[in-house]
Amino acid sequence: SLKQYHISEEYGFILPEPLTKLPPYFQPWMEVAGHVSELVCSQSLRVSVHKMPLLETHFLQSHRELRLAHLALSVMTMGYVWQEGEKHTVQVLPKNLAIPYWEVSQRLGLPPVLTHADGVLANWRKKDPKGPLDIENLELLFSLPGGDSVRGFFLVTLMVEKAAVPGLKVIPDVIGGIRHGDVAMVTRALNIISQAIGSMKEALQLMHVYVDPSAFYGIMRIFLSGWKDNPAMPEGLVYAGVRDEPMEFSGGSAAQSSLLHCFDELLGVRHDEESAFLTRMRDYMPPSHKRFIEDISRGPSLQAFVGARAVQSLTEAYGRCVSRLVDLRSYHISVVSRFVTVPASQARHLRAEARASPENHGALVRAPVALEERGTGGSGIMSFLKAVRDQTKDALITAC
Ligand code: ALA
Repeated sequence: SLKQYHISEEYGFILPEPLTKLPPYFQPWMEVAGHVSELVCSQSLRVSVHKMPLLETHFLQSHRELRLAHLALSVMTMGYVWQEGEKHTVQVLPKNLAIPYWEVSQRLGLPPVLTHADGVLANWRKKDPKGPLDIENLELLFSLPGGDSVRGFFLVTLMVEKAAVPGLKVIPDVIGGIRHGDVAMVTRALNIISQAIGSMKEALQLMHVYVDPSAFYGIMRIFLSGWKDNPAMPEGLVYAGVRDEPMEFSGGSAAQSSLLHCFDELLGVRHDEESAFLTRMRDYMPPSHKRFIEDISRGPSLQAFVGARAVQSLTEAYGRCVSRLVDLRSYHISVVSRFVTVPASQARHLRAEARASPENHGALVRAPVALEERGTGGSGIMSFLKAVRDQTKDALITAC
């Protein structure tokens, strides 16, 4: 059942009801983490971090306490590293941040960097506790520079996670149905999955309502990026008091969401060149969610079942899942083009002009050059997304 993978019937991979407070002992973290945007803006976050005491993490107990602590330490770390933009980064994360961050990360099985599991899955509270899990009734627990677009970016992504839940819940039915040779059960479940993938696309459309491309590209984006495959941090980062050598961790990426990994494994979508990055991103997920993906991949083959049974309604239901997934990935590419490719080319233009007349610099001019062609996770963003989309189409040929 889904419970053994810490997947909720109601929320899927989303952390149900995240805690909003840590024990009073951790007030120094919450104080700084709660003001990262302002402190970065006044260029005083690094100073504030240096003044924090080194706290003991064994006072943290429950899973939700650890997740909140990881989130708070993550936003402080991203702010600390990128406070001065891509030019004046740091080589060392100070002890009072690095040691507890490392310890909490070890206990959760997450890397010491801001992940999708932090910024999206564990970063929400309802304004009206009895109200729905809708964007208008939600607030972030912690933000980053970029104003309302940060709220929009994380919460719209959360809505995509929510939209997928009905589809996620019937994955065991598909697997059980194959095992029992129950064509009707598999068909029914696949119809729910294709609908859920359609709802994920609808939710993703909200990006256009809640996120402003120049704020996202020019201000927020660098704070999602990491210190692996990033020319702005070629050496990685030393976690002081943890290890003397620098370590490399990728920034946040939609590839850290477990959803499409599950659907790909179930539907038999194969990614060749791109699979190294995708597989590595599984180490940036809560370990129980990664285990769910791996168990799906070890399960019976849906493609073989569809091919062997040759029942029209089943084949069609399977085909609809694959084409909805292709469609979602195409739509994602169009979103990335508006929020990354277009502003990147505007930024190049503006930089050329700014060299001629160095006055009036907007956010776009200061946007990191290192991330023009890369995703914050470090992939070659457009070629990667297009290859993954095209490989999704191939699943149809294999099965039918
Ligand atoms: N991975 C997304 C980007 O590159 C967030 O902007």
